Amino acid sequence: MKIFLDTADLGEIRRAADAGLIDGVTTNPSLVAKVGGGRDITELYREICEAVDGPVSLEVIAVDRETMVSEGRKLAAIHENAVVKVPLTEDGLKACRDLVKEGHRVNVTLCFSVSQALLAAKAGASYVSPFVGRIDDVSGEGMQLIHQIRQIYDNYGYETEILAASIRHPMHVVEAMLIGADCCTIPSGVLWQLSKHPLTDKGLDAFLKDWGGLGTTL
Ligand code: G3P
Repeated sequence: MKIFLDTADLGEIRRAADAGLIDGVTTNPSLVAKVGGGRDITELYREICEAVDGPVSLEVIAVDRETMVSEGRKLAAIHENAVVKVPLTEDGLKACRDLVKEGHRVNVTLCFSVSQALLAAKAGASYVSPFVGRIDDVSGEGMQLIHQIRQIYDNYGYETEILAASIRHPMHVVEAMLIGADCCTIPSGVLWQLSKHPLTDKGLDAFLKDWGGLGTTL
């Protein structure tokens, strides 16, 4: 499963990329608003694309087909790693189809149902982003949606990649892997949480204490 970092924070992206742990990045307007105040956003997007060796989702702001396509072209021109992100609306699906016909890769975002995911695949999306955590937030079962999308995509051979998004904790990542999501986009806090285990810390403390008894170094 591919791991994408769900952030527009260059420091966090470089930290994870430096460790060789991420296959790409996803951004959205809210994530950019957290770090982009006073910045040239095109330049920020270019730096993000240069910081990672893989797809970087950059989202349109328009809500009508024509302007989404024109924004999408501009975003795609920023860097070869850019993937245009459009919302899962009627206009978004049409813009997706238009951009795909021009050879661009598209991530259809804000997916909350299996029927929406079907249409994203029909529109030729490279990725569909079901928002697991936000479904859990309203007492739904976000992972059930990942299961269902996996099943319909496999039933009919759709090649759109399932990009599990709105990931809130390590078990979301584990469950997405077990189901067979193609990618998971993860906030940096959750990425580093994946590396933690109290028995690792306890075991390391014991090793270092025992070694200390030798009174020597390597
Ligand atoms: O990339 C979009 C998605 O991951 C948002 O997550 O936590 O704002 O629901 P969240």
